[in-house]
Amino acid sequence: MSIYKRQVEWAKSHYGIESWGKGFFSIDADGDVCVHPSADASVSIKLQDIIKECEPKGIVSPLILRFPQVLDTQLKRFHEEFRSAIWKNSYSGEHFGVFPFKVNQRREFIDAISYSGFDYRYGLEVGSKTEFMAALSYDLHPQALFICNGFKDKDFIELCFMAKKFGKNIIVVVEGPDELQNIVEISKRYDEMPGVGFRVRLYSRGAGKWAKSSGNTSKFGLSTNELLDCLKILSDNNCEESLQMLHFHNGSQITEIKKIKKAVKEAIRVYAKVYQRGFKPKFLNVGGGIGVDYDGSKTSFSSSANYSIQEFANDTIYTIGEVCKEEEVPMPNVVTESGRIIAAYHSVVLTDIREVQSPCEEPWMEENSQLCQEKDSPKALKELFYIYNHINEKNYIEYYHDSIAFQDELFTLFDLGYINLSHRALGEKLVFIIANRALECSLQERHQPEEFSLLQKEMVSKYLANFSIFQSIPDSWAIDQLFPILPLSRHHEKPSLKASIVDITCDSDGCLEQFIGRSSIKRSIDLHKPNGSPYFLGFFLVGAYQESLANEHNLFGAIHEAEVLVSEEGKWRFSKLTSGDPIDELLVCRNYDCEEMMKSYKKQLTSQGHHEEEIQATLDQCKKALVAYPYLKALH
Ligand SMILES: Cc1ncc(COP(=O)(O)O)c(C=O)c1O
Repeated sequence: MSIYKRQVEWAKSHYGIESWGKGFFSIDADGDVCVHPSADASVSIKLQDIIKECEPKGIVSPLILRFPQVLDTQLKRFHEEFRSAIWKNSYSGEHFGVFPFKVNQRREFIDAISYSGFDYRYGLEVGSKTEFMAALSYDLHPQALFICNGFKDKDFIELCFMAKKFGKNIIVVVEGPDELQNIVEISKRYDEMPGVGFRVRLYSRGAGKWAKSSGNTSKFGLSTNELLDCLKILSDNNCEESLQMLHFHNGSQITEIKKIKKAVKEAIRVYAKVYQRGFKPKFLNVGGGIGVDYDGSKTSFSSSANYSIQEFANDTIYTIGEVCKEEEVPMPNVVTESGRIIAAYHSVVLTDIREVQSPCEEPWMEENSQLCQEKDSPKALKELFYIYNHINEKNYIEYYHDSIAFQDELFTLFDLGYINLSHRALGEKLVFIIANRALECSLQERHQPEEFSLLQKEMVSKYLANFSIFQSIPDSWAIDQLFPILPLSRHHEKPSLKASIVDITCDSDGCLEQFIGRSSIKRSIDLHKPNGSPYFLGFFLVGAYQESLANEHNLFGAIHEAEVLVSEEGKWRFSKLTSGDPIDELLVCRNYDCEEMMKSYKKQLTSQGHHEEEIQATLDQCKKALVAYPYLKALH
């Protein structure tokens, strides 16, 4: 195997791309990262090639690439797994998928979901009036479900009645008896009831960061007593047949399959007991929550999941079928509201690296050694030089501590005016090298001493990435979510720097210091040294929740977007290009009036006594600045 090929193999395994990429992403023989939108390895596009084609069209870094075919493939995989589980288990109900709007409300995204999902009767799930109005505009399959979750006032309920006029199979999921009472009251005016679902509060809890969405203290769903009250309300008003669905959702990114099985078992038992009371709900909605294996470890770690879609579908269908047989009730149609697992893979954020700050880059020269040993060199410097020559795995802790003490001594001498700048610089350099060696030794230990894990954070190079973490991957800031990150090229070269990634916002939280690793979280990412050519990083699996939760910290808004389609022959094209938010739009969203601002600029310039021409030129410059992209412009 050539050295290049060996290095590419190393990179594939080091960055785990084959584990988390699920056939959508890979590194090719040239060391470039590629996308395979239909998970077909023979149809492949280099991400760098897309960036090159984007540039002349004004779609520059940072940008988000969207691959509707990835979405299509993932939706198909999901649907097929359920079909196959239904067939294998001789299950008599059907599967209906609905997509939860909140996971990615971008129009481009929902357009793609509704297009790809039509043949699978895919429906939509909404949790607010705004999402409702947007979802209503989609002409879904006649059998697709339209599910309204969340807390509802009378206006929202009225909208649900109105949606029936559009031929939508609406199911209003009730969160409490008062909500149901309102629905029943309003139905008297319309002379009909919409389909109703009850969200049940299960005793079983999910697993992972959203476990508190479930269990008997959850904010959502009906307790058993409330469920009985709601059943009574329906019976008292002779509308038992309007109960069409029982629903539960145990939180997002559930990391353990056993928690899912337990919840499904409890939910189908509730379903059976409700059925035995004379109600005939047709659907059991098992919610969302399937975890995405962001780090590729297939474990119950919070950025992973220890099961596949196939396992989820099989276990869900099998468990429901078994309990139904035992309870002698018909098998319900199974509704899923999975969002994350469908959406995560379809988009990638790309950004260029602007600057690399390394703690100490210059090599140690022979003349440095001579300077340290000169007769008039400070004693502390000579001691540091001794440590530099003698530090090893056995003495590194003690020698590291000594070096800190000598560094203090050297700086005190400097404050008192006893040493010169060259000696001070040499001292800094030696302390850095000693710390680096001590760090290397500490990494060989089974348990790295805590002070060295802190030191590790300080010793890495900082790569300044032209994007905002708060805008493009807000969950990494908010909940320490790990996303796969890697350079888009140069994988035939060994990366030589350990790095953290800092963004361009003026916020110390705009910084990534945790990365996916093969067996544990890593405190740094291995990146290549700058070589003068543009260097791009990709942030993968960002299609779920990141755009919905994005915030405009420092007024960095939505980034440019490019939607890419590829033909079976492997030819790709842009199906849509969308510019990111310009500065004026970001300001208008904060109630600024750009015309008034222009007037204010003019007034200030006039009062400074500038010439008319100069004022006009400056105002033109302001106008241009107002319509610009707020991110950093390319250097090349
Ligand atoms: C009611 C409901 N359904 C579905 C989902 C989607 O969950 P996920 O994206 O984890 O599949 C959510 C999100 O937490 C939700 O609250």
